[in-house]
Amino acid sequence: MSQFIFETAPKIVCEQGGAKRLGEIAKGLGVHHLFLVTDEGLIKAKLISGALESLAVAGVAVTVFSDVLADPPEVRVQAAVEAARSAGADGVVGFGGGSSLDTAKLVALLVRTPQVLPDIYGIGLAKGPRLPLIQVPTTAGTGSEVTPISILTTPTSEKKGVVSPLLYPDAALLDSLLTLGLPAHVTAMTGIDAMVHAIESYTTRTKQNPLSEALALKAIRLLYDNIRAVLADGQDANAREAMLIGSLFAGMAFANAPVAAVHALAYPLGGHFHLPHGLTNSLVLVPVLEFNLSSAQSRYADLGRAMQHGQSADDAVAAKDFVAAMRKLVAEMPYAQNLRATGIAEKDLPMLATDAMKVQRLLINNPRDVTYEDALALYQAAF
Ligand SMILES: NC(=O)c1ccc[n+]([C@@H]2O[C@H](COP(=O)([O-])OP(=O)(O)OC[C@H]3O[C@@H](n4cnc5c(N)ncnc54)[C@H](O)[C@@H]3O)[C@@H](O)[C@H]2O)c1
Ligand SMILES: [Fe+2]
Repeated sequence: MSQFIFETAPKIVCEQGGAKRLGEIAKGLGVHHLFLVTDEGLIKAKLISGALESLAVAGVAVTVFSDVLADPPEVRVQAAVEAARSAGADGVVGFGGGSSLDTAKLVALLVRTPQVLPDIYGIGLAKGPRLPLIQVPTTAGTGSEVTPISILTTPTSEKKGVVSPLLYPDAALLDSLLTLGLPAHVTAMTGIDAMVHAIESYTTRTKQNPLSEALALKAIRLLYDNIRAVLADGQDANAREAMLIGSLFAGMAFANAPVAAVHALAYPLGGHFHLPHGLTNSLVLVPVLEFNLSSAQSRYADLGRAMQHGQSADDAVAAKDFVAAMRKLVAEMPYAQNLRATGIAEKDLPMLATDAMKVQRLLINNPRDVTYEDALALYQAAF
């Protein structure tokens, strides 16, 4: 018997050049004045011009907020909320990587709800209503366009999440042409993040469900097949699209069957050392896979077979092949390969382990229990 609940965004549009549909989608949601949430990198890469043109054609006014910061600090989100209020916006679009999408979610919510940020950290504490919300991811990626999660950095350098079904957008718009200019190191980090979403969702201990399982297996295949191709040729629009769809599927999967120890150990690295989210996942991925191997053998075997890597019928062999394939892939990525190379000192590891233990929201999903000593040993292995 299978009993589950599965939620996702009600509308997903995927089209090369689809950014030109933003105007009609906003209009269809009854929006007259859209608040576009993005960051300076997107402005410099001249990526929002097609979207702005389509809003002009549709007669939708727009206010651009381009002050999003990576791993959005609380104060920056508050500034965005105030800017949206004073502009009189009646709809929000997140346009960019996960940092822009996560900021947009909370703007759409906090402009309308009387609640304040500190009251809504955690699961299911946010109350509506919210403004209409559209999400346009330009990394592949966080999958944030289809997750009910927004991750912020608190004034005490903790990464905290607001989790609420209110954060699913009304529409997600995937346009792979927007991702052609993504620099190789960002392509690599965000691609590994998406793979981690698929892996951790497929092996989660909580809320496993057949839809997440199917999506995670399809996601790992798409991402593994295409990550080397987009690194070899960033202009390959079809491989870029496959990465976006893989990231979308992984996002849909982990939105309903949540991530675990890789993310729990990654968050303190992002919170204290401001390393990009995908990089922090990548740094701890292989040690966590090795740690989990004995408890997740048949699941890792499935993932390896889905990637058309370890094809052995023997789960023990196929699972080891899967971990070896991920180790090899991570080693090829064009960025730091260990904590030491990022400037972290060995004396920082106990503090990181202490902080990771606070992320029980995710640790409880891990296929194997993680103690403080385990967390410390995992950081040492990643050092
Ligand atoms: N809500 C969720 O479900 C979820 C899941 C995973 C991660 N996250 C969060 O997402 C954030 C990370 O997001 P991210 O990895 O997408 O990075 P990001 O949004 O921080 O962007 C990284 C950099 O890439 C640039 N960039 C983005 N798209 C580009 C493009 N197409 N061309 C050129 N440059 C581009 C940006 O300007 C920025 O400098 C973290 O805060 C993380 O905690 C959220
Ligand atoms: Fe992630």
